[in-house]
Amino acid sequence: MVEAVQGAKVVVTGAGGGIGAALARRFAAHGARVVVNDLDADGAKAVAEEIGGIALPGDAATTVDEARDALGGTVDIYCANAGVGCDGADIGRPLDERAWSLSWDVNVMAHVRAAHALLPGWLERGSGRFVSTVSAAGLLTMIGAAAYSVTKHGAYAFAEWLSLTYRHRGLKVHAICPQGVRTGMLDASGSAGDLVLRPTAIEPDDVADALFRGIEEDRFLILPHPEVAEYYRARAADPERWLGGMNRIQQQWEATR
Ligand SMILES: NC(=O)c1ccc[n+]([C@@H]2O[C@H](COP(=O)([O-])OP(=O)(O)OC[C@H]3O[C@@H](n4cnc5c(N)ncnc54)[C@H](O)[C@@H]3O)[C@@H](O)[C@H]2O)c1
Repeated sequence: MVEAVQGAKVVVTGAGGGIGAALARRFAAHGARVVVNDLDADGAKAVAEEIGGIALPGDAATTVDEARDALGGTVDIYCANAGVGCDGADIGRPLDERAWSLSWDVNVMAHVRAAHALLPGWLERGSGRFVSTVSAAGLLTMIGAAAYSVTKHGAYAFAEWLSLTYRHRGLKVHAICPQGVRTGMLDASGSAGDLVLRPTAIEPDDVADALFRGIEEDRFLILPHPEVAEYYRARAADPERWLGGMNRIQQQWEATR
């Protein structure tokens, strides 16, 4: 049992399946009371029933207050996990304004809105934990996925900002940045996902393992694929070289389409 989690009141968004469901199960297994939120009402209900949690169907961005009420007025750990991968926004296609705005809304603004709702209570009592399921695309960039890459960079920047601004006031923040994870999102990622993500894809449970290690070690950056640290270093150390390497992968992808 992880002490910080035992008895905690937890919200996991997008927990009707995939990574969110794995996180919800793990929190419940460590003795937390979990609100299972998802747009997919059936998924949320099924996971909540399985773990003895509370189902909260609906949009993650508009259910923060309801989630807090369902937990009796306090949230100890908020996992901003719901995300959308809608893309195909590479040049040559018509600009898809709806996909861009949905990506901003779910991948970034839902995190901002939740933090705004929860921070006053967390700062008042001097503790709280915000877990952001970002992506390695938030540190690097995903081939063929402009809106996803840009908004995941935004989610990472927001998590980083929260952490550096409030860590001396008791707020813990974790940013989870996996590459491929075997979920519906990976299945929907098409030929780019097959090329870049699938060969090293891990299970949602591996992501939960990595987060729980990070909670125990009190670490901000959670890398379920440890090799991402090296890619991130290489990108910072020599951006030209890194871009050249990524462009070779882009060309490889184009050759398969
Ligand atoms: N699967 C991967 O390869 C991968 C890699 C890195 C990061 N991620 C991130 O992990 C998170 C979870 O994705 P997943 O892989 O489990 O995908 P998934 O598609 O299995 O799960 C995402 C869940 O979020 C829900 N959802 C979408 N929009 C929502 C909203 N507005 N409000 C509430 N729920 C909403 C969906 O219904 C779905 O159940 C996402 O933020 C994703 O970007 C996934």
